[in-house]
Amino acid sequence: MTIIDLAIRTAREAGEILRDYAARGFQIESKGRNNLVTEADLASERHITAAIRGTFPAHHILAEESGGTLHSDLADDYYWIVDPLDGTTNFAHGFPCYAVSIGVEHKGRPVVGVIYDPSRDELYAAESGSGATRNGQPIQVSTIGSLDKSLLVSGFPYDVRERMDQYMPAWCEFLRHSQGVRRLGSAAIDMACVASGQMDGFWEQGLHAWDTAAGWILIEEAGGRVTKLDGSSFDNFSASLLCSNGLIHDEMLAVLRRLTAS
Ligand code: IPD
Ligand code: CA
Ligand code: CA
Repeated sequence: MTIIDLAIRTAREAGEILRDYAARGFQIESKGRNNLVTEADLASERHITAAIRGTFPAHHILAEESGGTLHSDLADDYYWIVDPLDGTTNFAHGFPCYAVSIGVEHKGRPVVGVIYDPSRDELYAAESGSGATRNGQPIQVSTIGSLDKSLLVSGFPYDVRERMDQYMPAWCEFLRHSQGVRRLGSAAIDMACVASGQMDGFWEQGLHAWDTAAGWILIEEAGGRVTKLDGSSFDNFSASLLCSNGLIHDEMLAVLRRLTAS
C-alpha cells in the first residue's frame, strides 16, 4: 500500500468513527478553559496511529492527543502528522464543521496531505507533484486578483481570551479591506476551502503542525501560496500561517506589515 492510499483510507475510516460518535453521543473533557477533547478525538487518533504503525512501522508519528513534539533531527525520515479531529469545539456542540487531517513529510518537506470532512463526505488529497483533488476531482485555488474582492477566513488560538488585543487588529484590517472574513472553527477545513477556491485567503497565529501539515501541501498543489505571517518560508515548526490563492498574497502581507510597523 502506498503512503497516500493509506492516508486516504485511514482518514475515511477515522471520519466514520467521528460520524458514529456524533450520532450516538460522547464524553467531553476539558484540556483548558475553552479547549475541549472528546472520546471521539481519542478513538479517531487510536485508529489512525494503529493503521500507520501496522503498515509503516519505521515511520515517525506526531499526533495531537498523544502529545510529543516534532523533532528536526528526524527530518530525514517519514513523519506522519495527525489531527484526529480538527474542529473539536464545533464537534462538541453538534455543529457539522470538522475534519480529520493527515499530513506526511519526508526530509522536512510535505509529500502527502489528506483532509476528510465527514459531514459533507468530502475528501481532499494531495501528493507532491501530482496536484490536489476533492473526491477524486482536480481542484485549484481561486482566480480572485485583489483583496477587496476576496473572501477570507481565519481563526483564534485557545489563548484568545488572554491575547485578544494581539489578534483583533488583523481582523479589523482584513474586514476593512475584503468582502468578508469567516471563522469556521477548523483550520483544516479553512485550508481546504482555500485550496478549492471557496475562500481566497486564510491567516492564523498559534497553530500547531497537526493543524497545518495536510493543508500546506493541499494548497501548494492546488496552485496557492503558503508562508508565515511575515512572508518568510513556512515549515511545520511555524505557529503562524498565511495562505492564499497566491494572487492576493502580497496584498495580505502588506496589511500585516502595516500592523507590525504601527
Ligand atoms: C483548532 C481549530 C480552530 C483553530 C484552533 C485549532 P482543534 O483545532 O483548527 O479552527 O482556530 O487554533 O487549535 O483543537 O479543534 O483540533
Ligand atoms: Ca486542530
Ligand atoms: Ca484536534
